[in-house]
Amino acid sequence: MNTFIFEAQSTSWFKTDLPTYHCRFDKSLYKDELFAQLGIYFPESLINAVAKRRAEFLAGRYCAAEALRQLNIHNFIIKTGANRNPLWPETVKGSISHCDNYAIAIASDKSDLIGVGIDIESQITEETFEKIQSQVLSVSEIELISNIDLKKTISFAVAFSLKESFFKASYPTIQKYFDFSAVTITDIDSVGNTVSFKVNETLHESFKKGMLLQGEFHLLPEEKVVTLVKI
Ligand SMILES: CC(C)(COP(=O)(O)OP(=O)(O)OC[C@H]1O[C@@H](n2cnc3c(N)ncnc32)[C@H](O)[C@@H]1OP(=O)(O)O)[C@@H](O)C(=O)NCCC(=O)NCCS
Repeated sequence: MNTFIFEAQSTSWFKTDLPTYHCRFDKSLYKDELFAQLGIYFPESLINAVAKRRAEFLAGRYCAAEALRQLNIHNFIIKTGANRNPLWPETVKGSISHCDNYAIAIASDKSDLIGVGIDIESQITEETFEKIQSQVLSVSEIELISNIDLKKTISFAVAFSLKESFFKASYPTIQKYFDFSAVTITDIDSVGNTVSFKVNETLHESFKKGMLLQGEFHLLPEEKVVTLVKI
């Protein structure tokens, strides 16, 4: 077993039964030969990338390959689309995230699923929080996260990550970037670990204004959070 990747396992952090796989990775042990050893395609886009970027891409694709394996899909090369979006097999919806030394991926072949998004974020400092909160959250969301039974910087990370997960889940359908104000977080349940949110503007036929959705979150060690949005 290679030690670049460690603590690799199926994820049981969420209520979903969709194949989800995470690992941790040690960037200091990264070398290019690991791509071949782990059976992951080294894309042209990484030729000019620094080792840190190569390492996180490899760890993310490794988790994605494991999630696909659970759907009985082997040796599929997940290429990258025009806006960095991973290109999954035609019958699959999936998502990848990496943050520091964590990577995670989810995949589904359920035909009734519009999309799935997953995201890991580190908690930010109080100082950064004060600076950036209004760029990511509305006045009502700032008030909401101040009243949740979680440290403010953690509930901010949950809200921010949830929006990133929603973006990843919906991007393959919407096919364009949209702003953080496109959805509003309406509740964070710190007991049930769910996040409720609302679509504020019609982004697509499948994502109409007023649509109510729910995601999940899980708190990781090292002050990180991970969120999942399944639509
Ligand atoms: C794309 C984005 C969501 C990535 O999130 P991040 O926290 O920077 O990084 P993560 O490690 O969690 O995710 C990176 C992975 O997301 C996936 N990803 C990147 N762009 C994507 C897209 N357009 N659609 C779906 N997935 C995408 C990729 O798999 C990428 O990893 P890889 O490049 O190694 O394959 C973020 O950088 C971004 O551009 N956000 C702006 C759009 C947004 O969130 N709007 C708010 C909506 S409410």
